[in-house]
Amino acid sequence: MLTDSHNRVINYVRLAVTDRCNLRCSYCMPEHMQFLQRKELLTYEEILRIMQLLAAEGVNKVRITGGEPFLRKDLMFLLSALSQLPGIDQISITTNGVLTKAFIPDLQALGIRNINLSLDTLQRDKFRRITFRDEFDKVMDTLHALLAHNMNVKINTVVMDGVNTDELLAFAALTKEQPVSVRFIEEMPFNGHGKSFSGQLWNFEHILNNLRTAYELEKIPDAPNATALNYHIPGHQGHIGVIPAYSRTFCGSCNRIRITPTGGFKTCLYGKDAINVRDLLRQGATDEYLLHELQRAIHHRFANGFEAEAANEKMVSMSEIGG
Ligand code: GTP
Ligand code: 5AD
Ligand code: SF4
Repeated sequence: MLTDSHNRVINYVRLAVTDRCNLRCSYCMPEHMQFLQRKELLTYEEILRIMQLLAAEGVNKVRITGGEPFLRKDLMFLLSALSQLPGIDQISITTNGVLTKAFIPDLQALGIRNINLSLDTLQRDKFRRITFRDEFDKVMDTLHALLAHNMNVKINTVVMDGVNTDELLAFAALTKEQPVSVRFIEEMPFNGHGKSFSGQLWNFEHILNNLRTAYELEKIPDAPNATALNYHIPGHQGHIGVIPAYSRTFCGSCNRIRITPTGGFKTCLYGKDAINVRDLLRQGATDEYLLHELQRAIHHRFANGFEAEAANEKMVSMSEIGG
């Protein structure tokens, strides 16, 4: 079992498989982003070796993130191999939906049902302004196809002051007819260009107050280790969630660690890499030594994101961390 010095058990890995993206969301990266070289990325063999060690120590949930995961070549090979690792019983994916629709049958064949879809506006023109790409129709097509295939869909909406704060009620309205969970995320500083962000102003309480101007929100009991505070609007099929990603109210029950595209091993989203597993692997580390280093990094985890932030010198692009 992987336990930190604050008695939190780690059973969830967020695995960012690429920093590349086919969108340029302004809250995530600059328009002219410098991406990594292929050889800097963890290979699938390297990812599987680390995941096998972690799964043997009790990790049972993996979330695939990026960048955009479906841009990584042969992603289905990795997903298939992960699904066969003893101990891994849930694989989830966070995607922007541009390429995702075509993969739905393959995902279903592997038993992957949990898809978190990033979508920050319901307006085509605004989508292009936020993402610098004209891919709104493909993303909406993916959303409809995921729902038609009974996938478990959560929409991630980053709340940006004056950009999409006029659409929070329209997003909430999506839950009326569809069994979808719409999650409003406090905007964090990971945009790779040091530009201002809305998380302080549009914190979870402000977001909830905005929703309450039009809707009655019934609290759903918190799931263990959840990042989202979840609500139900009477008569609606789906749910509403609010993620205090900037307020960081959930650190006390944090069960997750992160592996970045370059093998950075992060024990907090806000912290710097604790170790680099790619470098250890390429230096010929044994499984025993790798596990020892992973356990040591986990043991020294910060109590919360504020503590970790103080140790982190810069706020990079979210695509380099995986969210
Ligand atoms: P579920 O497994 O469905 O609960 O997914 P999730 O909410 O953990 O993952 P997702 O990739 O959909 O992330 C939603 C938002 O939560 C993103 O903005 C993440 O960066 C943020 N998030 C996830 N984990 C953490 C965390 O440990 N700390 C902080 N501050 N934010 C997090
Ligand atoms: N603040 C909050 N959420 C962000 N994401 C990306 N960048 C930020 C940010 N600066 C979200 C994306 C994606 C998830 C993994 O992280 O919307 O859904
Ligand atoms: Fe791409 Fe996701 Fe970053 Fe948007 S948030 S630019 S979709 S990696």
